[in-house]
Amino acid sequence: MAIILDEKKLLFTLLTNHSMYQMKADRYGALLHTYYGPKGIPFDYSYLITYADHGFSGNPYDAENRLYSLDVLPQEYPVYGSGDYRSTALKVRYDDGTNACELRYLRHEIQEGKYSLCGLPAVYASNDTKADTLIITLEDTRKRFYVHLYYGVMEDLDLITRAVRIENHSDNTIYLEQVLSTCVDFQHGDYDLHTFYGRHVKERTHQRVPVSHGVQSVGSTRGASSHQYNPFFLLSRPEATEDTGDCYGFSFLYSGDFLALSDKDQYNQTRILMGIHPGNFCYRLDPSESFLAPETAMAYSANGLGALSRIYHKAYRNNLCRGKYKTSRRPVLLNSWEGVYFDFDGQKLIDMAREAADIGVELFVMDDGWFGKRDLDVSGLGDWYVNETKLGCSLKELSDEIHSLGLQFGIWFEPECVNEDSNLYREHPDWALRVPGKEPVRSRDQLVLDFSREDVREYITKQMFQVLDSARIEYVKWDLNRSISDIYSALLPADRQGEVAYRYVLGLYNMLEKLITRYPDLLIEGCCGGGGRFDPGMLYYTPQIWCSDDTDAIERLTIQYGSSFGYPISTMGSHVSKCPNEQTHRNTPLETRATVAMSGTFGYELDVNKMSPEEKAVVTEQIREFKKHYDLIQNGDYYRLTNPKDNPDFHGWEFVSEDGSEALLCTVALQISPNASRRCMRLKGLCPDKIYLIDDVEYPGSALMNGGYLLPFAQEEYESFRIHIVEKR
Ligand code: GLA
Repeated sequence: MAIILDEKKLLFTLLTNHSMYQMKADRYGALLHTYYGPKGIPFDYSYLITYADHGFSGNPYDAENRLYSLDVLPQEYPVYGSGDYRSTALKVRYDDGTNACELRYLRHEIQEGKYSLCGLPAVYASNDTKADTLIITLEDTRKRFYVHLYYGVMEDLDLITRAVRIENHSDNTIYLEQVLSTCVDFQHGDYDLHTFYGRHVKERTHQRVPVSHGVQSVGSTRGASSHQYNPFFLLSRPEATEDTGDCYGFSFLYSGDFLALSDKDQYNQTRILMGIHPGNFCYRLDPSESFLAPETAMAYSANGLGALSRIYHKAYRNNLCRGKYKTSRRPVLLNSWEGVYFDFDGQKLIDMAREAADIGVELFVMDDGWFGKRDLDVSGLGDWYVNETKLGCSLKELSDEIHSLGLQFGIWFEPECVNEDSNLYREHPDWALRVPGKEPVRSRDQLVLDFSREDVREYITKQMFQVLDSARIEYVKWDLNRSISDIYSALLPADRQGEVAYRYVLGLYNMLEKLITRYPDLLIEGCCGGGGRFDPGMLYYTPQIWCSDDTDAIERLTIQYGSSFGYPISTMGSHVSKCPNEQTHRNTPLETRATVAMSGTFGYELDVNKMSPEEKAVVTEQIREFKKHYDLIQNGDYYRLTNPKDNPDFHGWEFVSEDGSEALLCTVALQISPNASRRCMRLKGLCPDKIYLIDDVEYPGSALMNGGYLLPFAQEEYESFRIHIVEKR
């Protein structure tokens, strides 16, 4: 059993293969957090707590003396108004307008298997993953509501998940002003905080800073998880490296507003909090209603950042992503966007597709521009019917033609948005999110539909289904091209407007669930102007997400490096595009663009008709090579070998098969210096005792890992190498 309970002490110890997490309901009923770290004997770790008379740290009324204060104790789920003045997980407002609250342990329950969350994404247990659930119920001392804390213990995955359900069991309405999903108090030690920041076309840059006194936070109030900060962060010991040291990951399975913070207090204790951002949030909870706060997935690694990432890679690949394409090989695609943008008709697409089929592409994706009145990004969104005049044929005819070339066919949608210049908006202006009496904020000349409303979703769903039923379509790209603003839903009363942002995300999930239920074989790629909603919540519905609108191979090194901390390679949409690059105007070798795109879902996004015969021959070979290494790349263990920030000369990463019998080393030369010596790259993850072959030369695994491998001289800037390493049989 992964959950050990000491009934007398009310001590709960959660065990995964390599980690241990512990909490204890003390004699006052406060649920204290006592340990999170390496697995050991399930001893009572509350001996590490200091009880002392701390000035200006109050005592609960029933405390026997001044030595007991929630202001300093490590807590499992702190609440505002309990005498704990640090950042809090929960803040409620009672119907009398007061906020002060105290929570006490009431009961617990242990269940076999992993809990699931109705309407929200959650990591799930498969047949070969052991999982148990612990639910601890706290009650507020005014007897109005229960707080059910859910813990999923995924033993083999080394993952502990958490979620929270608040249930109003009184006759009075309460308002939830803040319900975060996770709190972890680290009593002792110094830490570094790793976050992933960015912007449109430059997402998920890794930043590592010491945790300092006060609050350091990242988050989003944009309605989507955002390009600016990712809902994944980690905490490490200052001395931790890629391969050594303690580190902890926190990942939020939610695609809307979020807050993640560290709060280092007066006694150098570090509190971690993660959950829905309270900025746009206030949930009215009527008698017998309950509210569900989304899941967080926590992991601990004693062996550095790389091992921590691999925990998430495995878990998200196998126990979060769903559907046919969780395991089936995904087709190599050609996307029309950077090739032709809005400037196409059916014939042009067919001409592109014909060339694409010739060079080995397997799926042709028609991006933006095929519907309504849509020759620019200023009109048409919301009118999801095929513009046959523009295409010069029906969607079925186009799809049939593409299929006759031996290709699958895919199509782009942006279901959540509407242009004012659209029939939908002219008919239903009230369906867009907008605040009465105020003009809404426009972005990319579009507004956001109120997806918290079922009728709005139903309408768009029906339109999408009509399109998808009208032709053979194997792939959908689901995009969102602006941040959400003007949050007001016409169907809700004033004191429920704080629920709209949350209900919007639930609505989005509900619609995606309908889509995957009706079309179980459809491959859906998430997108939000690239990686503006690159989060585990979306991965539950879309097993891959377009990583960034920046397709420059060198820029992508940093973006994909940052993304790899919390997300598997198989989820990162990545394409070879033309040069000079559309975003940076940089030239990079075609092979390098493929090296980088292959470390993702792999595809092309250019006009194949404009490629020379030599380039087409190179691409054919690239696709062949990718298919050969598909399993290794998508399912192998991923190792970061360099950090692009610290290594201006070259960048490297590696895939190793689970049994260690083969590996793929990828490197990109970032700078060429004359009269240099060969660079040496120390490999990781091989079996030290195995003999490996690289270009028919034998090396023991230990030599490649301890001594390293001498990289070939790069002849030009940005030259890359893909070096296949196989065990000698
Ligand atoms: C977003 C996507 C692009 C493309 C355009 C189309 O920016 O990220 O890949 O689909 O929309 O408008």
